[in-house]
Amino acid sequence: MSKSRDPIGVFDSGLGGLTVVKAIRALLPGEDIHYFGDLARLPYGTKSREQIIRFSIQNTEFLMRQRIKALVVACNSSASAAYAVLRRRFSLPVVDVITPAAREALLASPSGRIGLIATRATVESGAYDKALRALNPRSRIYSAACPLFVPLVEEGMAADRLTQLMAVRYLAPLMRKKIDTLILGCTHYPLLAKVLKQVLPRGVHLVDSARPTVQGLAEILSQHGLKNGRGRKGKLSIYVSDKPRSFTEIGERFLGEKLSHVEVVRR
Ligand code: DGL
Repeated sequence: MSKSRDPIGVFDSGLGGLTVVKAIRALLPGEDIHYFGDLARLPYGTKSREQIIRFSIQNTEFLMRQRIKALVVACNSSASAAYAVLRRRFSLPVVDVITPAAREALLASPSGRIGLIATRATVESGAYDKALRALNPRSRIYSAACPLFVPLVEEGMAADRLTQLMAVRYLAPLMRKKIDTLILGCTHYPLLAKVLKQVLPRGVHLVDSARPTVQGLAEILSQHGLKNGRGRKGKLSIYVSDKPRSFTEIGERFLGEKLSHVEVVRR
């Protein structure tokens, strides 16, 4: 059977990567997707670089056993620590979320004053600073680590008053820098877009990596002759390393579709 029929592998520490899956479903509807959410070990953003690299390799090995044709690292914390390692170690196309978001931010920002909110691991890695400077050395980036956002989203509290208070606190230093664009540097954060918009001054652009990442993925699949051109809707299989009680409900809210195949894999 042609390799183009094989699934795309996507992983994240938890539910956040489903924001990227949603974009794949919209832009590449014929593709089968195997998603792995490492819920037993979430969050990644507070862990050391070595640990995140180890987890990312294990997640990729699991997906490779599902015979994936390409990998999307739908976790900024993993991408910032392990992208280069994964590309060296595995022989398949690997796509991350950081460069596409950086490119999109530069297009959106008239002043080049760009804010980044992300996990501590992503901010401390300097991966966005590097990606933005490589594309435009004159860009200015101001970062804020937001360690409480991931648990708030995973708890289904994206629209809670508490989340809004945290957003005010996290964003205040960035607003003082007069940013005109804000990168959502964690795949969980698009779920906070409504709250963030309430807190930010009007006119600040929010950059979500999902769409530009999937546009890049589509190009790479075409280049490698791996695009699945069939008409019917692809199948989505979800694997998790643990399944909290509210997983299906929150996951369906993330994705906007029913999660029919969710399997717990013990490793
Ligand atoms: N969605 C992950 C990211 O993009 C969340 C990280 C975490 O588990 O802390 O960074």
